[in-house]
Amino acid sequence: MMAMGLLWMGLALLQTLQTQAQTGAQTGAQTEAQDSHQEIPVQPGFIEDRFVGTWYSVGLASTFPWFLKKKAEMLMCKTVLTPEADGTVNLTATFVSNNQCETRTSLLRKTEQPGHYVYKSIKWGSEHNIFVVETNYEEYTLLYTTKTKGNSNFNMATLYSRTKDIRPELKERFIRFAENHGFTEDNIVILPKTDQCIDEN
Ligand SMILES: *[C@@H]1O[C@H](CO)[C@@H](O)[C@H](O)[C@H]1NC(C)=O
Repeated sequence: MMAMGLLWMGLALLQTLQTQAQTGAQTGAQTEAQDSHQEIPVQPGFIEDRFVGTWYSVGLASTFPWFLKKKAEMLMCKTVLTPEADGTVNLTATFVSNNQCETRTSLLRKTEQPGHYVYKSIKWGSEHNIFVVETNYEEYTLLYTTKTKGNSNFNMATLYSRTKDIRPELKERFIRFAENHGFTEDNIVILPKTDQCIDEN
């Protein structure tokens, strides 16, 4: 069991949520209103080569209970996306946890829909669908992620930025995006900037 105090961000949080989901599944507290199999539109004409590279997670939204409990303590994290020779995309996230730097790697598989990736966790028996809903590649990305495990599922919205600072308009855009996907104000967090573990270079 992962330490309860682990602070994760961006897609890195999915691995921790696995642990929580296992606990939650036993109490039947998992199901959320949104249907994880709904069609999520992605960025038209998505170009992976322009999307990869470094992103900072500056906004998150989820209804997951553990997230709601911890969100006030979370800090920005860094995600590096690298295309691998076999066609997968290596997603490596770095974040601060208990004052230490942690990294998590997930290998994302492409689907037939460009901008829609799948990540399966053998360890946790879960499947994550990651949708690049909107991006201008150079500045920001809106991501929507669904996770299913057995009959339970949860969803998350993420705002990625190429730099640690982001225009206020884009924060507003993210909040509207999250609200359009059913998240309430209470489910949304804009993550404070940090230099710990994620220097901008
Ligand atoms: C993924 O990328 C990280 C560095 O960004 C590297 O350390 C790791 O070995 C890579 N993992 C795989 C499976 O390619």
